[in-house]
Amino acid sequence: MIRPAVHAAMGRIQTGAPQSEDLGLLLCLVDPDEVALLHATACLVRTAYCQGRIALRALVEISSVCRNSCLYCGLNRYNRHASRYMMDEDEILHCVGEAVGQGYRTVVLQSGEDGRSAESIAHMIAQIKRKYPIAITLSLGERSYEDYQLWKRAGADRYLLRVESTDAELYRTLHTDRTLSSRLECLGNLRTLGYQVGSGIMVGVPGQTVSTIAGDIQFFCSNQFDMIGIGPFIPHAETPLAGSPRGDVLLTLNTIAVIRIATKYPWMPATTALGSLNRDYRLDGLLAGANVIMPNFTPSAYKSQYAIYPNKQSETDSAESLEYLARSVGLTIDYGRCDSLLV
Ligand code: 5AD
Repeated sequence: MIRPAVHAAMGRIQTGAPQSEDLGLLLCLVDPDEVALLHATACLVRTAYCQGRIALRALVEISSVCRNSCLYCGLNRYNRHASRYMMDEDEILHCVGEAVGQGYRTVVLQSGEDGRSAESIAHMIAQIKRKYPIAITLSLGERSYEDYQLWKRAGADRYLLRVESTDAELYRTLHTDRTLSSRLECLGNLRTLGYQVGSGIMVGVPGQTVSTIAGDIQFFCSNQFDMIGIGPFIPHAETPLAGSPRGDVLLTLNTIAVIRIATKYPWMPATTALGSLNRDYRLDGLLAGANVIMPNFTPSAYKSQYAIYPNKQSETDSAESLEYLARSVGLTIDYGRCDSLLV
């Protein structure tokens, strides 16, 4: 039995400016029929606005060094047990070459806020672009307008910077030496510079409530991101949040579905965090409206050192397993660049 209120809320959140109460009601669904309807609706919206494709992005984690101290993250600078590495340009080019050799046309270069010089990153971007016909997505944290501009001019196409929370108070408690306003300024700068911009949140981080998530979703609706990444919070033993419970899987999946229905166009990964729990929930992520998979191309010697949370899924998915995943949800794998679908 689907409650009439659920039908009504699902209709209303498609209008572009969803109400917090409607979002909250849908995020909290647990009845199997209602959940199935929510997720199926998200898949219909995905078919209508994004075609039946799963975009593949090759993820290369280029450095585990970080000067920041986010309370949830295993790479925070106070974790003295974390092992730190920084790949050099040759290693990165080699890795990107592997992904291109396997047919990938997008790489995501991610790292902690390692203080690497803007010029060396620009040089690396230019080298990759000279050699390979691919889109480059950066995920290197907060930097100045000038750095972002330099990298855009060198050929970077996209940037991922999760907002983490749009609640200023919660943001402050999670990032003792950062503010929401500087995060928003970075996101604005990236947009101004012409990047395709991705954002997102973790679900279940301590202090977050359903109404905070609803507020984040309203932010995603009014800002029209090209990409939105949503994953469960997973506590890391060497952080101040070690004893906190992990994010709820169903709430994470409902969040993906509600964002898909409300924002329609963004590329949304079935995140690595969803694949790193007691089983691989990335399939469930796709069934809730996600449409991106990011196989890990970090060299195996470094993979285990990039421990933002424990037991991080880091196998490079084989072409066969990706095809299987796509087939089982009725989608096809797209190895192309898969640029923004926003008009
Ligand atoms: N659990 C889940 N996700 C995490 N991230 C960082 N630490 C954790 C954790 N403990 C996410 C953040 C960041 C992204 C790269 O990884 O949202 O933006």
